[in-house]
Amino acid sequence: MTTDLIQKYDLRVPRYTSYPTSPHFNDTVDGATYKGWLGELDPKTELSLYFHIPFCDEMCWFCGCYTKIVKRYEPVKDYLDALLTEVDLVADALPTRMTAKHLHWGGGSPTMLKGEDWMAIMDKLRSRFDLADDAEIAVELDPRTATEEYIAQLEKAGVNRASIGVQSYEPKVQEAINRIQPYETTKEVIGWLRAHSITRINMDLMYGLPHQTLEEMDDMVDKTVALQPNRIALFGYAHVPWMKSHQKMIHEEDLPDAQARWDQFTRTTDRLVEQGYVKVGFDHFAHPDDPMAQAVENKELHRNFQGYTTDTAPAMLAFGASAIGYLPQGYVQNHLPLKAYSQAVYSGVLPTAKGIAIDDNDRTRREVIERIMCDLNVDLSSAAEEFGGDRAALEKDIEKLLPLVEDGICEIDGDRVRVLEQGRPFIRLVASAFDDYLGSGEGRHSRAV
Ligand SMILES: C[S@@+](CC[C@H](N)C(=O)[O-])C[C@H]1O[C@@H](n2cnc3c(N)ncnc32)[C@H](O)[C@@H]1O
Ligand code: SF4
Repeated sequence: MTTDLIQKYDLRVPRYTSYPTSPHFNDTVDGATYKGWLGELDPKTELSLYFHIPFCDEMCWFCGCYTKIVKRYEPVKDYLDALLTEVDLVADALPTRMTAKHLHWGGGSPTMLKGEDWMAIMDKLRSRFDLADDAEIAVELDPRTATEEYIAQLEKAGVNRASIGVQSYEPKVQEAINRIQPYETTKEVIGWLRAHSITRINMDLMYGLPHQTLEEMDDMVDKTVALQPNRIALFGYAHVPWMKSHQKMIHEEDLPDAQARWDQFTRTTDRLVEQGYVKVGFDHFAHPDDPMAQAVENKELHRNFQGYTTDTAPAMLAFGASAIGYLPQGYVQNHLPLKAYSQAVYSGVLPTAKGIAIDDNDRTRREVIERIMCDLNVDLSSAAEEFGGDRAALEKDIEKLLPLVEDGICEIDGDRVRVLEQGRPFIRLVASAFDDYLGSGEGRHSRAV
């Protein structure tokens, strides 16, 4: 890819973890709407459950997540009580007791919860849902605070996947992002997880951080591959200080430019593939034995708010402040302020702040965008036929792709849009051609690469 093209496409586009994307949610969808949608679910619908824990004990300057710094356990415990109350409200609104196949604890840092609270949480969930025997129970884990005893408690609670935040192993970078985490800590925690039968390990790495260099990225691949994670996420640092004011602590002059970001991303990607990892979408990698690698092969990969996933459940019930869920009828998001969230819950109302109902055209566009993001390849007529949308309405979007075709990013072959391998880092741009809401009164996004 030439420098000119890298500069030309250094644009800001959504990450498409949903369609429509969250800036288009509105408050016509509220707790009463969500309650109605839950009640209409087919009792046989498989569920996915997401729990958001918006607490950490120290702020990493790069962080784009919704989290708060707390030094005492009391607010965390109060929040957990509200969250378990929300579980009752949601379970009461379902047509019947339903089965969950996939549980994900994200944040913030779910490991801010005390080890002894995990059993009570899981007992509560088992009292309101049937958990499938092979349910995946995944937790995002901050290795800096984990102990072997804590991990033993996660094991006892049934956790079987851990996503470990790493970002960078380089002390100078760690200092600039306010996240000191020696390699030995990460290695030790992974050893404890495996010793306690939590053998599905994801690692989060980043490029585009202050002071990062190509040499460091090479070292990052070597150190990471030595730990043999099942999945790796390689996130481009999204610098959005207008939304996350603590990111102002990161000096813009220390950040790599578009060309350097491109080089870091492509070199790291190539080296991970050389080491046997399979490319998943634009920012994930899977060990060839991992079900995610098989999902890529079988075109069964999905994308949701947690990124790329093998989760196929048509409904995700999301609990906690700011959490976003989806049902066949549309998306819902809970209140962000902790106070508004717990007030709603304790007054017996589902704490939905906003959302969006979707129609067949949205479903068709969502399918087109998801297939591009996951398979780099979509048949527009098949998508319109399957989801009942208007195929003719997609014609104007194909026209938007012509400059990308000219620049060797994608190709159009009749009804089929295909992202070329060298265009893979730009799949968000290709997907954005089919976004009917883009440009209508939303915030600024992060860079495409
Ligand atoms: C909730 S954190 C992971 C769990 C835990 N809190 C930790 O940091 O170890 C989710 C991941 O999002 C990624 N992330 C956070 N802020 C980001 C940003 N501004 N740009 C890109 N990726 C980001 C990081 O890789 C981080 O590990
Ligand atoms: S990266 Fe993780 S630990 Fe750091 S502030 Fe964000 S959520 Fe907390």
